[in-house]
Amino acid sequence: MIVRVSADSLAVACGADGVAAEFQKAGHEVQRVSSWGMHWLEPLVEIDVEGFGPVTLDDVAGILNGDKGLSIGKIDEHPFIARQTRLTFARAGKTRPLSLKDYEATGGWRGLQKARELAPETILEQVTASGLRGRGGAGFPAGIKWKTVAAAPCTEKYIVCNADEGDSGTFADRMVMEGDPFQLIEGMAIAGLAVGAGKGFIYLRSEYPHAIQTMRAAIEASREIVAPFTLEVRVGAGAYVCGEETSLLNSLEGKRGEVRAKPPLPAIAGLFGLPTVVNNVLTLAAVPHIIADGPEKYAGLGLGRSRGTMPVQLAGNIKYGGLFEAGFGMSLRELVEDIGGSTASGRPIKAVQVGGPLGAYIPLDQFDIPFDYETYAGAGALIGHGGIVVFDDTADMARLARFAMHFCAEESCGKCTPCRIGAVRGREIMDRIIAGNGRKTGPVEHLPQMHNARPEDRSHVDEIALLTDLCHTMKYGSLCALGGFTPYPVMSALRYWPEDFGLTRELLE
Ligand code: NAI
Ligand code: SF4
Repeated sequence: MIVRVSADSLAVACGADGVAAEFQKAGHEVQRVSSWGMHWLEPLVEIDVEGFGPVTLDDVAGILNGDKGLSIGKIDEHPFIARQTRLTFARAGKTRPLSLKDYEATGGWRGLQKARELAPETILEQVTASGLRGRGGAGFPAGIKWKTVAAAPCTEKYIVCNADEGDSGTFADRMVMEGDPFQLIEGMAIAGLAVGAGKGFIYLRSEYPHAIQTMRAAIEASREIVAPFTLEVRVGAGAYVCGEETSLLNSLEGKRGEVRAKPPLPAIAGLFGLPTVVNNVLTLAAVPHIIADGPEKYAGLGLGRSRGTMPVQLAGNIKYGGLFEAGFGMSLRELVEDIGGSTASGRPIKAVQVGGPLGAYIPLDQFDIPFDYETYAGAGALIGHGGIVVFDDTADMARLARFAMHFCAEESCGKCTPCRIGAVRGREIMDRIIAGNGRKTGPVEHLPQMHNARPEDRSHVDEIALLTDLCHTMKYGSLCALGGFTPYPVMSALRYWPEDFGLTRELLE
């Protein structure tokens, strides 16, 4: 009997290694596979397509004796899996991450083989036709970025994979790298063929030791398959701002992780001043499917200008957290209430933050807007890297707004004033707002007068007006998205939950 247990670091953190060893001790062959992405069931054990979870050491003997108490039936028929459209995560739960045999048996390298028979221009056309957009946050069309690099008159170019997954509640990049590393390698090798780059770097954060280990082993195992393209893993120290592409490039060059002004775009002058494709893990991992199966299939999924699938990551206070891949267009209500089962605490949902720590807080009455780049931008929100973090009604939105300012102050690279100074002042204003909650409020002072007033002379409403003014400056005056997007969580918290800031809705309007 073959027993399959996930080797993903989340499963390991939940005790998967011990459970695997216990089945082995009982004389069974154990295969360590990738995770299905049903995190609330980890460690999930699969025996003859039937799943059991979450399994503890004490459950092993019972399962082997036929106890069905923890059975979830056939794993791929579980509603959480059956409702998904899995492309990037098609192998999740099914293959051993470092087995070339498993990878080939599930269609691996088909995209690369096909790409080798195509002219670079045809690869570029196919990626463009698929509608694939950058999955790191900005959603820029991958085909156009690649064409810019391809057209740059240089013999040396680079492919850089941004694997510095720093958004709160996100783990899709980590799951690809730990569970299906050859897919990312294949995508990068295809990108190299398309733009004329011979070398690639994967920039990973040190907080991902399992992913670092797996990626390095996978690069070694596939060296001859992707040759002459070569790959290297580089480990960063975990600064959030190193997820910003220019700061990442500085860090890769051994410099301080400070943002560079654009232009020039990395596509023109990137790593070591040479034309560079910088794409997120999920963007590059989608490429083998597009080339192997044709761009039409990918472009046939999604909504509006958001084509293909998005691996949504359900996290925070949610009952059924995990990885849910589907075509763009689903609503938060479907994702959070229907699929995610609402809060783990059983209390009502208060807010959902989408797109990482710089994403807006979305209230229940906006749960029906479809999940796609344009609709979210229109609603003053962002889908970012697809992370969804759920909060119940005990969340204090003023404290969460303070956290956004605090996060920005801690993570700022210091290059521009609106972010470096603004975030510190923003945190101080939030401290005063929180301390003054419930105080009798007066009329809003004229802003210039208020700027000159001593903090102790300002009314509570003055502080709110000052916060709003500061957010405007940070949004429009910051050099990169860290300072530029910090106002989103702050202002959305204020707009939708003014009572947490000691205001009535009427006063805010
Ligand atoms: P952007 O819109 O300026 O650029 C998007 C991408 O397209 C960049 O890679 C840029 O180099 C490239 N690009 C633009 N025009 C091009 C052209 N003509 N040819 C080739 N390439 C071109 O967006 P930006 O400022 O890079 O990022 C903003 C987004 O990134 C935000 O939505 C934010 O959420 C996300 N972000 C995520 C971070 C993280 O740690 N996950 C950190 C910083 C930003
Ligand atoms: Fe650096 Fe912040 Fe300015 Fe970005 S916005 S360049 S992180 S100081």
